[in-house]
Amino acid sequence: MTTSLPPRPLPLAPGPKGTWPLGSAHAFRQGFLHATTSGWRQYGDLVRFEIAGRTLLIVSHPDFAQHVLVDGAATFPKRDVRFGLGLLLGNGLVTNHDHASWLSQRRMMQPMFHKARLATMAHKMEAAAARLVDRLGAQAGRTVDIDVEMTSVTLDIITQTMFSADLLGEAGKVGPAVAAGTRFVQARIQAPFSPPMSWPTPANKAFTRQKGVIDAIVRRLVDERRASGETKGDLLDMLLEARDEDTGEGMTDEQLRDEVLTIFGAGHETTANTLTFACWVLSQHPDVVARLREELDRVLAGRLPTVADLPNLPFTRAVLDETLRLYPAAPVTSPRRAAHDTELGGWRVPAETNVFVSTFNIHRHPAFWPNAETFDPDRFLTGRLPAHRFAYLPFGAGARKCIGTNLAVMEGALLLATLASRFDFQPAEGFRMELEQTITLRAKNGLPMIVTKR
Ligand code: HEM
Repeated sequence: MTTSLPPRPLPLAPGPKGTWPLGSAHAFRQGFLHATTSGWRQYGDLVRFEIAGRTLLIVSHPDFAQHVLVDGAATFPKRDVRFGLGLLLGNGLVTNHDHASWLSQRRMMQPMFHKARLATMAHKMEAAAARLVDRLGAQAGRTVDIDVEMTSVTLDIITQTMFSADLLGEAGKVGPAVAAGTRFVQARIQAPFSPPMSWPTPANKAFTRQKGVIDAIVRRLVDERRASGETKGDLLDMLLEARDEDTGEGMTDEQLRDEVLTIFGAGHETTANTLTFACWVLSQHPDVVARLREELDRVLAGRLPTVADLPNLPFTRAVLDETLRLYPAAPVTSPRRAAHDTELGGWRVPAETNVFVSTFNIHRHPAFWPNAETFDPDRFLTGRLPAHRFAYLPFGAGARKCIGTNLAVMEGALLLATLASRFDFQPAEGFRMELEQTITLRAKNGLPMIVTKR
């Protein structure tokens, strides 16, 4: 007689040992980026952290990313982040976890981000790039915080293209407010315990103040447009005119604020950080600068680049792509939630597990990227890219892929071409680049550089 044993449950993914009641919260003492990269190196492509009763899974393999973001996406919906990123962005396109209402938001906004539609905004991007050249030119020979300048120009572009507004004068307020806000949210994600927002702790009060700065700007954008009665054919008009298919009603003020806030926030800081990292890598790779200049000088013959030039600047694009590989502005996707008990790569994933896909780790995975830590734009030109489609996903994948991909690539390449063709950048004496993850990946201490005109 044979007896069949009950199937053994799959094991849980490995990870640092924790102690009651905080679990492995200690692993995050040096920040989220440090915990997730060193966890990956130590434990492998799926790492489990337990923080005071919450489980965080870090996904660092393209197969697993494909499953979480695309093939098994129904099992891994976006998590409700009302007490995380939602504190900053409200319930807009990035944070909405209700599939049906997200889908109608996405369908309504998508046309604004098609390549052909964006091409009609090229002149606005080119004008913003020219303003950047003027600002940097006026500071030539001095030490400039590149991070601040990149925030200004991307803010200029997102507000001009999507909201037909000039907010350049507010950039000095917006940059620090967004940085403080995202740092606060990141701290809550990795902390074992966060005081409710209603408690008047110094951190809560500081966050509320900074968020107030951003909210006031967004409110003004909407109020001014409503008061003017004008139509500009931009995203703001689209949002103001949107009607619910069933009820015929427009958006509530709160919905409208959240959508504007989301595009405003998600639409400038990521691109600013990417350009900051691009300036940094260029300052470390004179050989890459020389090849970039050869391309730019040949194609532009001394004039400023336009969006129409971009197809003729493949090396510029490769530098941007390689920057996004090593320094993905979204180093992990926003959290997914295991909707029920499931498995991933032979590991058990209990219901309610928080799943983060680490683009940062996947982009440096040695099984997919030879000399993964080396900055080598030629990977993108010479057919040496990994065969796995999910080995490179700076803009995410699947239904929740970045809506701003085309805009980010267009403005990123345009600004990179503008900067490299006009200026030289040298890091300030003694500067050391340190990475920090505050939702987005950023240069922890900014990027002070001496800018000289070519
Ligand atoms: C270099 C620049 C950028 C990077 C690296 C980036 C990266 C990403 C990534 C990885 C996601 C997916 C997150 C997830 O799956 O959880 C995402 C979503 C999103 N991004 Fe971007 N992004 C960039 C620029 C932009 C721009 C310029 C805009 C807006 C104009 C934008 C708006 C959004 C929105 C609204 C979503 C949510 C889409 C949805 O869930 O339907 N992003 N972005």
